[in-house]
Amino acid sequence: MVGPNGAGKSTIMKAILGLFNYPSGKITIDGQPVSQTSHQALEKVGALIEYPGIYPFLSGLQHLELFSNDGVSKQQVMEIVDKMKMGSYIKRKAKTYSLGMKQKLGIALALVNHPEFVILDEPMNGLDPQANKDLRTIIMDLAKQGTTFLISSHILSELEKLIDDLVVIDKGQIVYRGDMATLESDSTRSMVLQTSDNDKAKDILTQNGYQLIDSDEGHISIVEDEKTKMADIIKLLSTNDIEIEDVKHVHSDLETSLLNLLQNDKVKEG
Ligand SMILES: Nc1ncnc2c1ncn2[C@@H]1O[C@H](COP(=O)(O)OP(=O)(O)OP(=O)(O)O)[C@@H](O)[C@H]1O
Ligand SMILES: [Mg+2]
Repeated sequence: MVGPNGAGKSTIMKAILGLFNYPSGKITIDGQPVSQTSHQALEKVGALIEYPGIYPFLSGLQHLELFSNDGVSKQQVMEIVDKMKMGSYIKRKAKTYSLGMKQKLGIALALVNHPEFVILDEPMNGLDPQANKDLRTIIMDLAKQGTTFLISSHILSELEKLIDDLVVIDKGQIVYRGDMATLESDSTRSMVLQTSDNDKAKDILTQNGYQLIDSDEGHISIVEDEKTKMADIIKLLSTNDIEIEDVKHVHSDLETSLLNLLQNDKVKEG
């Protein structure tokens, strides 16, 4: 789940957890309704919303023991500690933890009861690159075993590596809902060239029916479709005495797609 600051991502997550009464609509998990007075379905849910609630005078391990259900063994708790690489400080009081250490504890708490559905609100918050990668592995492994995740994040490059489906929220409304593959196939692909004479090359390409993307960044961007052949372009330019110095294919990423989407949303609104 992505969207600008204040779009309503955390609010939706809190509503799913039955933390407040919403005026309309209905939330069900596996067919079971959730509201402020009906919490049965949440037994299968683990969550970290915004900041982890942490008791400064308890150790990380005491937190995990406090929040784990009866069916969870000490060994299972330690497995999560190991996976999150928290072993070296798990017995220290949480008041001594750094931002990222607290965040990891928050994630471990969301996972400790082996929930079927895990809600993580900006889980990468404060994590270093290695911890980010570790978290990704943990999420992917659990997802393969059947766990469902609802994740919000602003770190789109990280999110992109994880997700199957995307929901974009803007001003409390869903503005896009679909799978990553659809979003990618909707996005434009382009071939970016650097030549010995970009101005001349641009003229020649346009005259020959190629569609160029406007840019003043000292390179040429050609819109790519099935008919665009690199060999044709090389031939065309070299017969006109233009040398190609560099060429690459560019596929717009999640960030670009998302910015376009939110821009369109604003335009529609007027
Ligand atoms: N559907 C809604 N209708 C009315 N108010 C809403 C709605 N969704 C969110 N709000 C209000 O907007 C404010 C910000 O929402 P929220 O904290 O969910 O944003 P967010 O998307 O999590 O932003 P951030 O990316 O900064 O964490 C809250 O005060 C919330 O009450
Ligand atoms: Mg939020």
